[in-house]
Amino acid sequence: MERTHFLSMITRSLVHSLLLSLVIAAAASNITTDQQALLALKAHISYDHTNLFARNWTSSTSVCSWIGITCDVNSHRVIGLNISSFNLQGTIPPQLGNLSSLQTLDLSHNKLSGNIPSSIFNMHTLKLLYFSDNQLFGSLSFFIFNVSSVTTIDLSINGLSGEMPREIGNLPYLARLAFATNNLVGVAPVTIFNMSALKEIYLLNNSLSGSLPSRIDLSLPNVETLNLGINSFYGTVPSSITNASKLSDLELGVNLFSGFIPNTFVNMADNYLTSSTPELSFLSSLTNCKKLKVLILTGNPLDGILPKSKGNLSLSLEIILMDNCSISGNIPQVVGNLGNLLVLELGGNNLTEPIPITFSQLQTLQALGLTRNKLAGPITDELCHLARLHSLVLQGNKFSGSIPSCLGNLTSLRVLYLGLNRFTSALPSTIWNLKDILFIDVSSNSLNVLIGLNFSRNNLSGDIPITIGGLKNLQQMFLEYNRLEGSIPESFGDLSSLEVLDLSKNKISGAIPASLQKLLYLKHLNLSFNKLEGEIPRGGPFANLTAKSFMGNELLKMLLLVIILPLSTALIVVVTLTLKWKLIECWKSRTGPSNDGINSPQAIRRFSYHELLRATDRFSENNLIGIGSFGSIYVARLQDGMEVAVKVFHQQYERALKSFEDECEVMKRIRHRNLVKIISSCSNDDFKALIMKYMPNGSLENCLYSGTCMLDIFQRLNIMIDVALALEYLHFGHSTPIIHCDLKPSNVLLDEDMVAHISDFGIAKLLSGEDQLSIQIQTLATIGYMAPEYGTKGRVCTRGDVYSYGIMLMEMFTKKKPTDEIFIGELSLNRWINDLLPVSVMEVIDTNLLRGEERFFAAKEQILLSVLNLATECTIESRDGNGADMGWIFSALDPNP
Ligand SMILES: *[C@@H]1O[C@H](CO)[C@@H](O)[C@H](O)[C@H]1NC(C)=O
Ligand SMILES: *[C@@H]1O[C@H](CO)[C@@H](O)[C@H](O)[C@H]1NC(C)=O
Ligand SMILES: *[C@@H]1O[C@H](CO)[C@@H](O)[C@H](O)[C@H]1NC(C)=O
Ligand SMILES: *[C@@H]1O[C@H](CO)[C@@H](O)[C@H](O)[C@H]1NC(C)=O
Ligand SMILES: *[C@@H]1O[C@H](CO)[C@@H](O)[C@H](O)[C@H]1NC(C)=O
Ligand SMILES: *[C@@H]1O[C@H](CO)[C@@H](O)[C@H](O)[C@H]1NC(C)=O
Ligand SMILES: *[C@@H]1O[C@H](CO)[C@@H](O)[C@H](O)[C@H]1NC(C)=O
Ligand SMILES: *[C@@H]1O[C@H](CO)[C@@H](O)[C@H](O)[C@H]1NC(C)=O
Ligand SMILES: *[C@@H]1O[C@H](CO)[C@@H](O)[C@H](O)[C@H]1NC(C)=O
Repeated sequence: MERTHFLSMITRSLVHSLLLSLVIAAAASNITTDQQALLALKAHISYDHTNLFARNWTSSTSVCSWIGITCDVNSHRVIGLNISSFNLQGTIPPQLGNLSSLQTLDLSHNKLSGNIPSSIFNMHTLKLLYFSDNQLFGSLSFFIFNVSSVTTIDLSINGLSGEMPREIGNLPYLARLAFATNNLVGVAPVTIFNMSALKEIYLLNNSLSGSLPSRIDLSLPNVETLNLGINSFYGTVPSSITNASKLSDLELGVNLFSGFIPNTFVNMADNYLTSSTPELSFLSSLTNCKKLKVLILTGNPLDGILPKSKGNLSLSLEIILMDNCSISGNIPQVVGNLGNLLVLELGGNNLTEPIPITFSQLQTLQALGLTRNKLAGPITDELCHLARLHSLVLQGNKFSGSIPSCLGNLTSLRVLYLGLNRFTSALPSTIWNLKDILFIDVSSNSLNVLIGLNFSRNNLSGDIPITIGGLKNLQQMFLEYNRLEGSIPESFGDLSSLEVLDLSKNKISGAIPASLQKLLYLKHLNLSFNKLEGEIPRGGPFANLTAKSFMGNELLKMLLLVIILPLSTALIVVVTLTLKWKLIECWKSRTGPSNDGINSPQAIRRFSYHELLRATDRFSENNLIGIGSFGSIYVARLQDGMEVAVKVFHQQYERALKSFEDECEVMKRIRHRNLVKIISSCSNDDFKALIMKYMPNGSLENCLYSGTCMLDIFQRLNIMIDVALALEYLHFGHSTPIIHCDLKPSNVLLDEDMVAHISDFGIAKLLSGEDQLSIQIQTLATIGYMAPEYGTKGRVCTRGDVYSYGIMLMEMFTKKKPTDEIFIGELSLNRWINDLLPVSVMEVIDTNLLRGEERFFAAKEQILLSVLNLATECTIESRDGNGADMGWIFSALDPNP
């Protein structure tokens, strides 16, 4: 009795203290502790490009609602922290170890640096630890390996150094150990090759050494992946490895393993292994490895022949890489028995004779690489049965005969390399059936001339190969609707027979090479919808091409041969802009004073190059605010605190110099509230710049598309009235009309009060008296905004500006560029609007304008219809013109329509 009582007392007090300790433990660490630990982590993040943590991890919200956090519903503690791939910079604070209920810690794919704090060992509940793909350095603390519950440790792709602690071997549940791509040195502890739970070992790409235990099959009974590649492991490969029955991925390449291949098994590229027999009989022993899938022997001087007898290969093999192994003889028929084969690479050997016909049985084969051998004979139809083949690389052999037309049946084919062989006859036309093809190379054969090349509507990506220029007989080349990048090779100028070239709808950039002017037979050229820039050449075939060939390249400028028409014609045409002055003035008086922008000539301030250099921080990219047709525009902060814009003309183009002179000439004559105010210029032999008033709200283009400023109907109308006022002034405010020639949203700048100012007079024209009769000049204009008769009839006149104004008006209210992708063929912006007006006006309108109260809907519709009617009037080709048009603007502006 006494005794029982005593025991129960002891038990009770034990239970009590146990409970007490639990209570204390709970008090010592609860969700508040977790929050503090996570806030400490947040405080250690020095860069977070989305600012997500600053916004989301706030003390005012529950930790459990924070992004990347998982809590346990019952204990209300943090059990998961996953902030993988947030692109975070910073360090890992020791407080993280206070997350004492954590089970999953995934910080992978960030840019975290510094050491891994040893406090991590406090997390006794941790099962999964991912720090991979960061910039962590320092040596591995053995404390990490005191967390006995852990099943996965992944520290791959960091800068960790030092030796591997032998304590790793103490982790009873560890199944995955990944230290690949670090700077670990020394002998890998033998304990890691003696862990019964371990399934995956990745030590690839370190400087580890040591040898493998002789009974690896017993000491790693569950191993599936053993990847020790690119290290300095040495010794022989134990024959017991073939008994590791679960092993399916063994990578021992680029190490110092040596000795004969022990007639058992090998999977080791770039070692010093040789074969003990002329026939590579060790391959036969692979039949024991019932699960072997990958065999990599690349770069071992095996110096033998492939086994010829049936049943001597492991049928489970999926990938065989035996490039550069000095294998000679032929490819035996038995290879056709490897029914699971996905990849077979035997490049760079000494193989001879034809490909065996048994290859038709390799129904799962996806890649066949036999490059650089001495294989000969024809390619038979057998290969055409390999329906899953993605890649067929046969170049650099002695194959002869014709290329079988049935290759067109291999519809999965993406890579076809047949170059450097002895094929004769033409490339079969069926090749163009290969819709997914990415690369094709049939160079250096004796093929008949290739006259047509059609790879349109594929997924071709990358640069256009320069070697295409060698196809001297090519007459037609279709590469449209792909994803080609880079520039058009200069060598295209050598395609001297070319008649048709279609490169439209790609991502081709750079300038159109001048060499294309040599293509005298070129009749059809389509370069539309790319990212080409610079000037369009004029010589050769370009003389007969229209703007259609080049549309949808926003930075491309068309060089036009232009004839100035008699001004009288222009005057009639341009009456559209005969504004009702009084109404406008009246409207303007509501929005501000109208004479603030007038230059006063006596106030001209001089600027030196050095002053501009300093004020723009040496023309640093941070101060670059725009790139115009001939120059870059920077914001400059002067020493007196004033901000100005500096347009620096690109000296390397002769045309830019002309543009500077033209712009100076124009700007000398004009002053208007809605033109950008030129403050001064700066010019010496090597440097030409205009100093202009700085427009803090940037260009209309930016405002419309960047989403930084939202323009309502009235702001848009105001801006377009400003532009109209400026045009009115340019065209009629002088004895000499000025034509802007390049009116578009990026040339309209907005000041702090959102008042619009036309800028960029780099190609403006003065219609001075003598010029008015059929004098030819050259000009450049932007495709899409340019009146069609510029291109077809070669006229420049004020009407061209009116046309551009109409297009801009459409763009302002539909938020669709004239160069938008949807406008192809006959369909253009104005055609589209014309077709839908007046019934479906709301279908074309920028949806941002339709928000707001329902009851104004009808009024809005009326306003927008008027504006678009005006816009279409401006863009009608040969109109006789009357003065009524602008009236719409005013009815549109009436606040009580
Ligand atoms: C967490 O523990 C601290 C004491 O360590 C206590 O002040 C706090 O109220 C506890 N918070 C919660 C949410 O239990
Ligand atoms: C933080 O992010 C989570 C997950 O995206 C979200 O549910 C939560 O509302 C966010 N909290 C705050 C304050 O933004
Ligand atoms: C962490 O999140 C990423 C992205 O959501 C996910 O791919 C990954 O599997 C997660 N990690 C764990 C350990 O669940
Ligand atoms: C958390 O960890 C830090 C450093 O490891 C320690 O100084 C602190 O006392 C711990 N406890 C709490 C409740 O934050
Ligand atoms: C590591 O674990 C051992 C026994 O499991 C224990 O004695 C030792 O104190 C632990 N070390 C640390 C730093 O927690
Ligand atoms: C491997 O581990 C077992 C027990 O887990 C142990 O008896 C044996 O000595 C170890 N072998 C080596 C080489 O460490
Ligand atoms: C092919 O064999 C010849 C001798 O027959 C030898 O000189 C040559 O080096 C071998 N080439 C390769 C790539 O093994
Ligand atoms: C290739 O496809 C065509 C049409 O589907 C078929 O007639 C021909 O037999 C095929 N050739 C081979 C070798 O499979
Ligand atoms: C342009 O077209 C005209 C008439 O169609 C033709 O005479 C002329 O040769 C063409 N020029 C070039 C360079 O193709």
